[in-house]
Order: sequence, then structure tokens, then C-alpha cells
Amino acid sequence: MLSPTSVKDALQSAAPVAPIQVQGWVRTRRDSKDFSFIELNDGSCLRNLQIIAENWLPNYADVQHLTTGASIIVRGELVASQGKGQNWEVVADKIDIVGGADDTYPLQKKGHTPEFLREIAHLRPRSNLFGCVFRVRSRLAFAIHQFFQERGFIYVHTPIITGSDCEGAGELFRVTTIDAKNPPRTQSGEIDYAKDFFLRPTYLTVSGQLEAEAFASALSKVYTFGPTFRAENSNTSRHSNEFWMIEPEMAFCDLNGNMDLAEEIVKYLIVDLRENCAEELGLFAKFVDKELLARLDFVFERKFRRIPYTEAIELLKKSGEKFEFPVEYGLNLQSEHERWLTEKQKCPVTVFNYPKEIKPFYMRLNDDGKTVTAMDLLVPGIGEIVGGSQREERLEVLEANMRRHKMDPADYKWYLDLRRYGTVPHSGFGLGFERMLMFVTGVSNIRDVIPFARTPGSAEF
Ligand code: 4AD
Ligand code: MG
Repeated sequence: MLSPTSVKDALQSAAPVAPIQVQGWVRTRRDSKDFSFIELNDGSCLRNLQIIAENWLPNYADVQHLTTGASIIVRGELVASQGKGQNWEVVADKIDIVGGADDTYPLQKKGHTPEFLREIAHLRPRSNLFGCVFRVRSRLAFAIHQFFQERGFIYVHTPIITGSDCEGAGELFRVTTIDAKNPPRTQSGEIDYAKDFFLRPTYLTVSGQLEAEAFASALSKVYTFGPTFRAENSNTSRHSNEFWMIEPEMAFCDLNGNMDLAEEIVKYLIVDLRENCAEELGLFAKFVDKELLARLDFVFERKFRRIPYTEAIELLKKSGEKFEFPVEYGLNLQSEHERWLTEKQKCPVTVFNYPKEIKPFYMRLNDDGKTVTAMDLLVPGIGEIVGGSQREERLEVLEANMRRHKMDPADYKWYLDLRRYGTVPHSGFGLGFERMLMFVTGVSNIRDVIPFARTPGSAEF
């Protein structure tokens, strides 16, 4: 049996090969006098492989009926191409038609809008744009692991079902097996989650951070990389209800070390993709975002600026810019503010030391008693792609933070144990995988960098 060659490998061949087997989906087909040209794509790369089917093939009549979307297996000889635009082509001596596709196949024409393609999320990976997006997504995931593994970080699988609300924002999807029609009740008539599957309320995780802290308190440098879920009802181009997050956590590390790592990984990933996904980035630069490569260079070449939150607020106030949302000390920065900061400063920006009121309970209280060691890394075009902090390692201060956030320290006994036994200064952050992917592809809607997006009112596929 001949083992199949990918289109990518065939196109990179150093010499003719005979016989060769390739397989994939027909992109286009056109007839010449004595033969038919088929453009074959198998998703291994952006480019198609040209197949030449000559009229002596026993099933030539069927080949002439092949339409866009059909699947075929081709055996033949890889030869230097006479035509323009490709070095290699295959002269077929056998074509097996595996699966036909009739003219209802929705990807007939080139140039469908991303909005249309979103409605056929099951077929859109067969388009050039989405093939590129998902190959880059795969490489980006690999490069992230490589970055951490090269630096001695240990990969930890934190749970997806959890009892804690790490971010304290209450944006949780409940996990339950309680019968909605007939739930167990407490004496006061509330649903009794103590009788639920896990004998307590449980949710899909919003972040693996708290569990990662436990592992950093033993293995020193760890990272998570997994799906996270937020039941926030915000229909924006940068929010998804299911997204992937990378969360490094480092023992014996302060906020500065944390900011260093966040900046380092962003640059590393840009360099990796420039090297390993040149063809895909080229397509994005041509059809999605003409500024893309310049913007990636901009972020790669420049030193990131670090601005305390208080100073960022002053810069925004003095900007003279008309913002939709108010700029005031004590308010969260909105994406328009974040974009202004990084675009007008002409460099990526890390904003740090936010007011304690607008950040979660676990962040370390600064000596001023007003701010916490939060940091957000902002890039042009997107705004926040990283959010992190130095964690509160002092037991009493942490308990006080929890009470201030209306949390009961008794519910977080295990987390507080990390401060009771061998506590150390430690820090970490969350890098939004899809945000990073949007940034490196120029794709402006998060729905278009996730295979099957989960957003409010939408979970069809
Ligand atoms: O800033 P966030 O909420 O931070 C945390 O969850 C921390 N526990 C992380 C940590 O310190 N270990 O989220 C981190 C990043 C954001 O900067 C953003 O890139 C991304 O996750 N993110 C989202 N991405 C897509 N859709 C959403 N709804 C997102 N919410 C956050
Ligand atoms: Mg954040």
C-alpha cells in the first residue's frame, strides 16, 4: 500500500516522485481539450496541488463531473509543472472519487464574508481564510508549550469543574444534575445544592489560577493551558463564553518578574509565528489587515512601557479625546481607553497597580493600602491580552481581602492553607489564547478564531 503524501510535502518536494498518492477535496476543476485540471486541497497548507487527469483514465467521464467540495484519492507521478504558479503537479494514473458534492455545496465562490462563513462553521475550515486561522491556532498552541517547557515550567491540568469563583465576578455556568422540574429544597425553600451531584454548588471554571497557585507552591514554576468559561452576557468582538487561557504561576516571583514574563512570551510568540506561519500571515496581511505585519513588528521591536494605573488615568484625561465611557480614578479601563493608551504611546503598554476595589480578592495589597499589584498588558488593535498580578501571600491580609469582597474565608480553606504552610511571594497571569490569536492574525472578531464559538444565544454547532 502506498502511504499518502500531504499536499504540503508534495509541494515542497526536492525531486519528482513516482508513484505518489495524494488525497483531499476538490477546490476547482476546469477542462482543457484532452484533460482536466483539478486543484486539490487537503488543509495541510494554504496552497492547492494541481492534478492533471488525462482523457484516457477509465473513469474520465466521472472525473469530468467532479465539482467543488468532492473528495478524491489520486495516484500518479509528481512532476515539475509546466504551468505558472506552482513548481510541482501530479499527472494522475488513477483517481478514486470518494465522496461527491452537488451544487448546494455552500463554498462555491471565493470571497465569502466571515459573517456568512460563521453560519456554516462546520464547513468554513475548508475556506482559505479559516484553514489559515486554524493552522496558526495549532502552531500558537505548540509554541506556547515550547516557550514554557524551554524555561522549566511544569504543565498542570487544573479542573474544569470547580467550586470556586476565582474572579469573583459571579459569571459562572452552574454544573448540576438536579432535576430542574423537581429540585431538592432547603427548609427555607431555596434549591438545596448540598444534595447536588458533588454535594455542593459547582461551576465551569473561569480560571485555573487558584489551583495553579497550589501547584506553584510545590513545583515552583507551572502553567495551565485549557478552556475557561464565563457566563457574561457581553456581545462584543473580544468576548467569548468559552475561551482558552494560558496561566503561568511562579513561586518566589514579584510583579516585575511577572511583567517581564508576560512581555517575553508575547514577543516570543510573534517571532515563532513569523518563522513558522509565514504563508498564513501573508494571507492575513493581504486580505484581512494590511497593517498586520507592521503591527507585529511594532510590538516585537519596541520595549513595552509600564504605566501605573493612576498615571494612565491622567494620560487619558489629558488626551482631549472624546471617549464613550468615562475616565475616572476607580473605574475600569474600557477597551477604547486601552487602545488609546497603546496606540498613542506608540508601544505596547503594561498598566499596573490598580485600585483594589476593581480587582479580585487574591491580588496583593500595596503599601499604600489603596492599590493592588495587578497588571494588564495592552496591545494595539485589541487592548488587554494579559491580566495578572502578584498574589497576596500574607494570610491575615488575604482573609481581610476576602471579607472585603464579601467572601467567606471558610469556603477557601485549602487556598488559605497555601499561606499557612510555607507561603512565598508568587505571581502569575492569564493570557487569553483567542485574544493573542486575534492579535497575530488581524482577525477582528473572536468568533472567527475559535472552531465553534460559544457566545450569548449561540451554540449551534
Ligand atoms: O483578566 P482575566 O479575567 O484574569 C484572570 O482570569 C486571572 N485569574 C488570570 C491569572 O492571573 N492567572 O483574564 C485573563 C485574560 C484576559 O486578559 C483576556 O485576554 C482573556 O483572559 N479573557 C477573555 N478572552 C475571551 N473572552 C473572554 N470573555 C475573556 N475574558 C478574559
Ligand atoms: Mg482582566
